[in-house]
Amino acid sequence: MVMSVRMALLPLIFSLMIHRVSGADWGVSYRHSHICALKDSSVTIYCTYTYPTGYKIKKTIWTKTLVKDKESNEAEDTSKYENKSEKKHEDAQDLSEDPEYSQRLQYLGDKQKNCTIRLSHVTQKDSHMYYFRFTTKKTKKKWIGDRGVSLTVTDLQVEAPERVTEGDSVRLTCKSSCARTDRATFIWYRNSQPLTERRDRNNQLLLQSVRREDAGRYSCALQEHTYISPAVQLSVTYPPKSVSVSISSSGEIVEGDSVTLSCSSDSNPPANISWFKEGTFVGSGRIYSISKISSDHSGEYKCKSSNQHGEKYSDTVTLNVMYPPKNISVSISSSGEIVEGDSVTLSCSSDSNPPAEISWFKERMFVGSGRNYSISKISSDHSGEYKCKSRNKLGEKDSDAVTLNVMCELMMVQ
Ligand SMILES: *[C@@H]1O[C@H](CO)[C@@H](O)[C@H](O)[C@H]1NC(C)=O
Ligand SMILES: *[C@@H]1O[C@H](CO)[C@@H](O)[C@H](O)[C@H]1NC(C)=O
Ligand SMILES: *[C@@H]1O[C@H](CO)[C@@H](O)[C@H](O)[C@H]1NC(C)=O
Ligand SMILES: *[C@@H]1O[C@H](CO)[C@@H](O)[C@H](O)[C@H]1NC(C)=O
Ligand SMILES: *[C@@H]1O[C@H](CO)[C@@H](O)[C@H](O)[C@H]1NC(C)=O
Repeated sequence: MVMSVRMALLPLIFSLMIHRVSGADWGVSYRHSHICALKDSSVTIYCTYTYPTGYKIKKTIWTKTLVKDKESNEAEDTSKYENKSEKKHEDAQDLSEDPEYSQRLQYLGDKQKNCTIRLSHVTQKDSHMYYFRFTTKKTKKKWIGDRGVSLTVTDLQVEAPERVTEGDSVRLTCKSSCARTDRATFIWYRNSQPLTERRDRNNQLLLQSVRREDAGRYSCALQEHTYISPAVQLSVTYPPKSVSVSISSSGEIVEGDSVTLSCSSDSNPPANISWFKEGTFVGSGRIYSISKISSDHSGEYKCKSSNQHGEKYSDTVTLNVMYPPKNISVSISSSGEIVEGDSVTLSCSSDSNPPAEISWFKERMFVGSGRNYSISKISSDHSGEYKCKSRNKLGEKDSDAVTLNVMCELMMVQ
């Protein structure tokens, strides 16, 4: 039963097909008249062609050159027109013989009615009109599908402001000249790493309240496409942060040393650096150098880092310059005459860092130590020249001599 139905249907289908073919005229039809493709992708151009029964196809070609040839598309015998302009048509270049295309072009159709092709790894140079043409055997009729297919190959471009200030919002756009990419899924990259979060709708990436970490090279791509747009640098500007001072010498600083202070800070754009000693401006630039340091340079320093977005001071650093004793002098407690029995104090002052140890000498004889040398009941035996010696680990120095001249009370009475 089943068998007989099938048998009955087959001739019907067959006769319908024959009818269709025999009724078909000359023609080429392209499924899409315009194709927009992403650079580096593969494009399929769907195409069918028809011709009356009785003809056999000799040659099918795809070409970029449309030699508008009325006679040809009227499907008359071309042998009548073998002159120069006809020759030109004959020469319409077959893309499969063009070295620019031959490796990338794949004919998916057949020799009956399907003229579909695929072109892979398209580049912008492939943006062009493309035409299918076929030639029949013996009678040499030829037909070109002169409506053609226009192919546009687009790349992707990231549009972003060159710089954005921290905290602002920024919108990056992945642009292409294909209108249809609006519905596609975009993938964004920062420094070649795909961004999983914060993907905005359509072809835009919205960065809300931009952070410094958002700076980088951005590129975009379409899902399921290998082509990635050129990267665009997004720079995030921000005021100085983490401002700190470092000192060239790690140990103690001795008078005469060369000392360099460096100010480091993180900012974009780079900051201007100024130096302050106890609140007074002393210089500018990232490095502050003191070639021969002296005790006068001791003190508290800090640097200020500033750019157009703000400024920030470092913590203070203290320069403590060490030096041997200097400027030693002795003073005597009593200004007038010294009489036997008086109490007298000699005081040694000296300038040094670290503080010095003081020793007292009377005519080269050590008599005591400490800043003050006191004699409670002075006698004439104490008369003589006194000196103090100031000493720290960096050196020692003697004061000038002072003379104690102790008067005898008896003599004065006389
Ligand atoms: C050459 O062919 C064109 C049509 O393609 C025709 O118009 C022209 O008259 C022909 N010239 C000669 C010399 O046959
Ligand atoms: C022509 O061939 C292509 C590729 O094989 C196929 O996808 C397409 O459906 C065919 N077209 C027709 C009308 O048969
Ligand atoms: C940084 O210093 C330069 C030169 O001294 C000056 O022209 C500029 O205005 C300064 N910029 C800021 C942000 O202070
Ligand atoms: C020595 O000290 C005195 C008093 O403190 C001061 O006036 C003088 O300038 C100092 N001299 C030197 C060379 O430091
Ligand atoms: C030294 O003597 C002076 C007075 O002459 C006094 O002011 C000072 O405190 C004394 N210093 C010491 C360390 O005794």
